[in-house]
Amino acid sequence: MRISVIGVGYLGAVHAAAMADLGHTVVGVDVDEAKIAALSEGRAPFFEPGLPGVLASALGSGRLSFTTDFAAVAGAQVHFVAVGTPQSAGSDAADLRFVDAAFASLLEHVAPGEVIVGKSTVPVGTAGRLAELVEERVPGATLAWNPEFLREGFAVQDTVSPDRLVYGVPAGPRGERAVRVLDEVYASAVAAGTPVVVTDYATAELVKVAANAFLATKISFINAMAEIAEVTGADVTQLADAIGHDARIGRRFLNAGVGFGGGCLPKDIRAFSARARELGHGESVRFLDEVDKINLRRRERVVELVREEAGGLEGVRVAVLGLAFKPHSDDIRDSPALDIAVRLAEGGAVVTATDPEAVPNARRRAPQLVYADSAMEAARDADIVVLITEWPEFRSLDPRELGDRVKVRTVIDGRNTLDPHTWRTAGWTYHGLGR
Ligand code: UDX
Repeated sequence: MRISVIGVGYLGAVHAAAMADLGHTVVGVDVDEAKIAALSEGRAPFFEPGLPGVLASALGSGRLSFTTDFAAVAGAQVHFVAVGTPQSAGSDAADLRFVDAAFASLLEHVAPGEVIVGKSTVPVGTAGRLAELVEERVPGATLAWNPEFLREGFAVQDTVSPDRLVYGVPAGPRGERAVRVLDEVYASAVAAGTPVVVTDYATAELVKVAANAFLATKISFINAMAEIAEVTGADVTQLADAIGHDARIGRRFLNAGVGFGGGCLPKDIRAFSARARELGHGESVRFLDEVDKINLRRRERVVELVREEAGGLEGVRVAVLGLAFKPHSDDIRDSPALDIAVRLAEGGAVVTATDPEAVPNARRRAPQLVYADSAMEAARDADIVVLITEWPEFRSLDPRELGDRVKVRTVIDGRNTLDPHTWRTAGWTYHGLGR
């Protein structure tokens, strides 16, 4: 099929490359010239395992191209809109500026019979509004909403082999045709038996925010238990293991620590709350405000622990291991790690931070921190080591070797990912969160 993808950020770049790799002919369009130039040369503008390989093979096949010229979408049978919906400045609501701009530019080049597919995470009701716009501007074109559930670090795999496909379509023959077109786009996943949920716009939009709200709630639930564990002497990791054996609960997303960050969960739960308030039903999801607060409290708890352990922050040398919001990513959007590092520095600590991939992004955002190339270098003469992003190279650090580097053998394990016994045996004072 001939496909256009509007917006080649995290979601769009991966989608464009993966669809071309699957055999479709794809053009990716974005207003950001630097991004288009990089992608055209086969360079991913962010770190994502597997993406460079897929990009190279898709570009090599001649089926993938990138441009800033919207006219290039003409002739595509399907147009995916994958632009960002960040948190608005000054409110919790989603900023739909990029979505509206993308639709305005796209509709100048869409022809009747073509299908426009929204992938961006939007407040419920947006697709209905945009469908009216499509009908007014290009009668005969159809809008579908097809939310994306990819995880950073596994983006290519999640795009090629999603665990479900959700199509929000209008009722009637136009909707049925959109379903056939989407089934053709995702032919390999559909053939592999991927569950397909065909529904209305509002449900499709809500599936995405509900999924993220559930995941965020699960994480904050276990972090709330961590707070209780801390004052009672209980161990939250054993608690998680024990309740996780109940198949109805499940062990995944029950890792207590510094909590969730990134470009999705934090802003999506806030936008969901804001939208519910607009609808006059803020109370239905008021618990999400609590989920957000529990999450942010965990970051402050780490700062507090450093203060307690080091007897204050002023002049304390802190080695911060990890800056990305999670391992296998260079994404620092709403990263607990960067937030904690900055708070420690603001409190007077001398912070040396490191991350296998995120240092360049962090340096731009927080030039006041000192950056190191490795954990061993960051730990030199440290009064305290704080592990925040659980990269494999940090999890496998040798506590004896690291111990020779530091001034004081104290470690705060912000992800409960180190083995306390091994570290204590090597002479370290070990602190997990909630244990
Ligand atoms: C998330 C959703 O998982 C994905 O489906 C959606 O499309 C986009 O948002 P992502 O932001 O890539 O994906 O990260 P995810 O793997 O969900 O982790 C989110 C955050 O939660 C990370 O900061 C992670 O460290 C944290 N987390 C995750 C925990 O603190 N504990 C856990 O048990 C799991």
